[in-house]
Order: sequence, then C-alpha cells, then structure tokens
Amino acid sequence: MRLTVIGCGYVGLVTGACLAAAGHEVFCTDIDEKRIAQLKAGKVPIYEEHLDEVLNRAVAEKKISYTSDAGEAIRAGEVIFICVGTPPKESGEADLSAIDHVARQIATEARTSKLVVEKSTVPALTGVQLQRALAAYSRGGELKFAVASNPEFLREGTAVEDFFHPDRIVVGVEGAESAAKLREIYRPILERNFHCPVHSGKCPSGTAGELLVTTINSAELIKHASNSFLALKISYANVIADLCERIGADVEEVTHAMGVDPRIGTQFLKAGLGFGGFCFPKDIQAFIHLSASVGVEFDMLKAAERVNKQRIDRFFDKVHKALWVIKGKRIAVLGLAFKANTDDIRFAPALDVIRRLLEEGAEVHATDPQAISRTKTIYPQITYHEDPYEAVKGADAALVCTEWQVFRKLDWERAGKLMARRLVIDGRNLYTPKKMQELGFDYHSFGRH
Ligand code: UGA
Repeated sequence: MRLTVIGCGYVGLVTGACLAAAGHEVFCTDIDEKRIAQLKAGKVPIYEEHLDEVLNRAVAEKKISYTSDAGEAIRAGEVIFICVGTPPKESGEADLSAIDHVARQIATEARTSKLVVEKSTVPALTGVQLQRALAAYSRGGELKFAVASNPEFLREGTAVEDFFHPDRIVVGVEGAESAAKLREIYRPILERNFHCPVHSGKCPSGTAGELLVTTINSAELIKHASNSFLALKISYANVIADLCERIGADVEEVTHAMGVDPRIGTQFLKAGLGFGGFCFPKDIQAFIHLSASVGVEFDMLKAAERVNKQRIDRFFDKVHKALWVIKGKRIAVLGLAFKANTDDIRFAPALDVIRRLLEEGAEVHATDPQAISRTKTIYPQITYHEDPYEAVKGADAALVCTEWQVFRKLDWERAGKLMARRLVIDGRNLYTPKKMQELGFDYHSFGRH
C-alpha cells in the first residue's frame, strides 16, 4: 500500500522504515528541511539500533522516499500516519498545535479521500478533535477523511525489534473499512513475512503480536494508561528500595520475588535514579491533566511523579554522606542518556545530576557511548571522555547514571587504580555490593547494603 508518514522524528522514522521493510511504499515528509536533506543524503539523524540498516535497504529497494513538500507526500499516500511531536506545555497538558497544523495541511492538500492515523502519543479525545479539524479545514468538500488511532509501544533502543515483534498492535477505528486497511498494513508483521534485520531471518519462534481493534477513544487511552502504569511500577520499586534501606532488606531480592508472580512480572521494577526520557515524564503529566479535565482525580500518578523527582535528592543524600563536601572535587559521571542504547538525553536523570554537581562546585568529567555530543550543547563547560577509564582517572567519586552494558562490564580493579579515591555511587544498581567492597570500594546503590 502507498503510505505517508508526516514527521520524521524517532516514531516517524521507525514507523516509515519498518513499514517499508514490510513491503509498503512509504513517503516521508517533515517541516524541518535540514532533516529531510540529511535523510536524502543517507544520514540517519538519530541513533537507534538497526534503523540505518532498515532505512538504507528501503531506499535501495525504492520503498521509501523523503520530501519537504508536505502536499506531495500527502497526495502520494492512501493512508497517512501522523507522527509529529506533542510536547508538554508549562501546565503539563500536551501541546497539539503540530497535529492541528498537519490536519490543515491534509485537508487542503489532499485530492483523494484518506485514512488519517494518529501515531503520535495524544491524550484521549484527540481523535474527535482531529475529525472536526479535518472537516472544518476541508470546508465541506467532497473528500472523506476517516480517522484512526494506532498508538506505538516502541522503546527507544529496541524500537526496530519492538516494531517487527510487537506484543500487540492496537488500532482504534470508527468502522470496519479502516480496521481492514490497518490490518492489511500490518499483515506482513502479523504473519512475520518480512526481512528481519534484528534476527537475520531467524526470528525466535512464538506467537506473533495480536491486532486489537478498539474504538478511537479506547486506543488513545490504552497508550497513556500503559505508560503511566509502567511509570507507576518504577516509582513503586523505588519506594520499596527506600524502605529496604531503612529496614536492612535487599530491593533486588524483594522485587525479584515479587515479579516471579506472573500477575506482577519482573520488568520495570528496577530501583535507582528513576525514569526519564521524552515519554514517561510527559505522558504521566498529560494523563494527570486529562483526568483532572474530565473530573477524575488520579492522585496515585501524582505520587509516582513526585517519587520520581525525589530520586535525584535521594541520590545526592548518598553523595553527600559518602563524599561530604562536593565543592572542588573531581567527579566522574558514567552515563548521560536517559537509558542505555540511545543517544536521547531528554529528561535524562544524568542532566539533573550534572546540574546539581555544577551548582555545588564540582569538576565534572562525563562519559557516555552515544550521548556526548548532545550533552555538550547543554553543558559545554564540563569535560567529556569517550573512554570511561579516562573519565574516572583522578576522580574522587564515580556516579553511575545510565545502565549501559559497557559500564556493567567495567573492570573496576583497573578503574580503581586510576581513581583518586575508590568511591562509587551507583544510580542503576549495576554491581554486586559485596564484589565492589572486596575490590576496596566504598560502594553505594539503591535499596541494598
Ligand atoms: C516507553 C515505553 O516503555 C514504550 O512502551 C513506549 O512506546 C514509549 O515510552 C513511548 O511512549 O514512546 P522509552 O521511553 O523508550 O519507552 O523507555 P523505557 O525503556 O520504558 O524506560 C523509561 C525510563 O524508565 C528510563 O529512564 C529507564 O532507565 C527507566 N526505568 C525503566 C527504570 O528506572 N526502572 C525500570 O525498571 C525500567
């Protein structure tokens, strides 16, 4: 099928690339001409495992093309995926002006009827507004615009794998025709009939994801309800970690045993510096805002958000206790990205950690496998090292902020010899306390002794 993707950010690019790999012809457009020029030149503007490979293959097979002419892209596709940003406003409410702008473009530029699919994360009831906007901007013309909601559940760092091997594909529609179109679009994924770059054709056996057809309002709610629940789980684990510290229990033992119960599950119970990124922090706020706007108090989400914000304070309590005075100390920060396998630093806990260190007069030396250049634009005044061993050289303390595999595997025997003092404050619980103590480290983590 001929598909249009509007918005070449993270969601748009992964969606476009993977749908092209599934055999569709995809036309991508973005308001940012520089980004389109980059893509045309074969450069992928974000770091996401396997994405460049899938995109290059799609380009070579002429399955994907890029244009900064939105009208051209809109006219080319039978189905249009809206993948534009919905950033938070000051109030926490989602800013939907980009969706409104795209609705106007679709209504005025289309020459045939279209199915318009919301892929951006939007608050419930956006579909109703989108439908109204399309009708209003097309001024009662002949063309028909059906609206659908198809939220994405991709995780940064494993987005390509998640797209090809989803647990579920949710399509919120108004009628059977839209459902049939979306089922057709996702058929190769559901039937596992595509070239999988992640497993080179040998995908693990097991069931393919399920396609769940719902109403548009339900689909929109499913996305926010899922993300907020996961955020809630993380904050829950973090409070348990605080309790463990007071009581003398071990949070890893507690959350593991909790998670063995299939009703709970082990995932998203990792205690530490808390959640960051451009999804959980903004989605939880938008969900709180949406609930309040329809008269439903969602206090437990407010508590989850508060717990998350306090993680930085808890972390600094540990730093102060172990290091006493921060001023004038050389501190290594291991990890800048909000999580491993991405260069994304939006709402990354590491940025708050660096801000606090600088406020308190520390000399900061930071390292990250992917996120250095992005962080430099925010903190040009600190020193960056590609090599983690260079970062810890001469350091009075090392603070671990991201769960990168390279940090997990760091040779602390070697690192310890380079440091001025063997002190590690681990915001991601990467190491075994006993082993670190055996290596002579003063080692602190969350919820463990
Ligand atoms: C999240 C959801 O997991 C995806 O399903 C969703 O599609 C996406 O948001 C989105 O709305 O676009 P993502 O933001 O990429 O994905 O990252 P996660 O892997 O969910 O991690 C979020 C944060 O929680 C990270 O900072 C991570 O370090 C932290 N985290 C995660 C914990 O602190 N503890 C855990 O146990 C798990």
